Amino acid sequence: MSFWTRKSRIVITCAKGVLPFLKQEILSSGFPVLSQGLAEVETEGTMEDTLRLNLLIRTGQHILFLLESFHAKTPDELYKRISRISWEDYIPEDGYFSVTSSVNNPTIKDSRFANVKCKDAVVDRIKEKSGRRPDSGSERNRIVVHLYWRRDLCQIFLDTSGEPLSKRGYRMIPLKAPMQETLAAAVDLATGWTGNGNFVNPMCGSGTLAIEAALIALGRAPGLLRSNYSFMHLKGFNESSWKTLRRKIRAEAKDRFDGRIIATDVSQQAVEAAKKNAMTAGVDRFIEFGVCDFSETPVPNGGGVVMLNPEYGERLGEEDKLKETYKKIGDFFKKKCQEYKGYVFTGNLDLAKKVGLRTNRRITFFNGPIECRLLEYELYEGSRKK
Ligand SMILES: C[S@@+](CC[C@H](N)C(=O)[O-])C[C@H]1O[C@@H](n2cnc3c(N)ncnc32)[C@H](O)[C@@H]1O
Repeated sequence: MSFWTRKSRIVITCAKGVLPFLKQEILSSGFPVLSQGLAEVETEGTMEDTLRLNLLIRTGQHILFLLESFHAKTPDELYKRISRISWEDYIPEDGYFSVTSSVNNPTIKDSRFANVKCKDAVVDRIKEKSGRRPDSGSERNRIVVHLYWRRDLCQIFLDTSGEPLSKRGYRMIPLKAPMQETLAAAVDLATGWTGNGNFVNPMCGSGTLAIEAALIALGRAPGLLRSNYSFMHLKGFNESSWKTLRRKIRAEAKDRFDGRIIATDVSQQAVEAAKKNAMTAGVDRFIEFGVCDFSETPVPNGGGVVMLNPEYGERLGEEDKLKETYKKIGDFFKKKCQEYKGYVFTGNLDLAKKVGLRTNRRITFFNGPIECRLLEYELYEGSRKK
């Protein structure tokens, strides 16, 4: 049996806080949830299934396919066990691979040492079998071997994604403080957004939340936007079945939805960037863009989600000005968004208090190392804090 059709464990990693949304996505994609950690969910399937998962999953970072699991106490044992794996079946002799790792073993002070041991074992094995040495380095855009080593438990994975799935490929123009695409998708899903009602996104910055909202509403697989995955460089990768799978998944998407998506920002430059990003993502015709102060954003009748991701003032002196902005967000919610559920995504809870409305839910996320909250405000009449 080819390794492409053999069933094994699949681990999908994600940012802390995203786990409940990733689990839900795995289940609704038809895969079981076998176990979970703080920032990963374990499921099972074949290598062929990982192609599907790479296309469908919105909130995960890497899809890891388990090749081997064993016990190793020392770097030498690790080397021996890794060189027993038939790497010649996976990596072309003239291919390129890199090694990433998550290591916590008493004999290893610097995880780079474990990576080098792993890399040497792979190269030496292929050299012995074929007489040629594949190239290796730190680039993640071709084959990626992932080493997980905790005490003496060692698991060797193929990272079928390579570059993290947050790199969808549509955000070409860098702006300050953009949200990762996978985090933006999780934040949108946390509101229950499916494309019903409207999605209003003042302070849209580079447009990530609005673009992900459009992809969700259309049921478009985010992975279709990317043309390179690690699995494409493995031996036995079948280009024509990959194309068929992409076509099939593309055909499952809708070409319209009922609600409106509105994205505005006070910065003209941000709105230009957001428009270009939306165009690259193929959703520009589903988003109405505008340049204005957030309080002037048009809020259509019919209700839905109003989502704001204001700055959180990491530099000294910024906070006083931002206090006023957060207070005005509360006024905007009260005055203009009465049929809506209001959301503020922020890393600064003191500032969030200035919104001055009662929160319904507070969901913890991590934007890189910063602990953040998605705060939900029910804006119906009668829900106001006295
Ligand atoms: C943290 S960034 C949003 C990042 C966005 N979520 C993304 O993924 O790119 C905050 C944005 O709020 C905008 N902004 C700040 N004050 C504003 C105001 N009064 N009205 C409208 N937009 C404002 C900034 O121009 C900036 O683009």
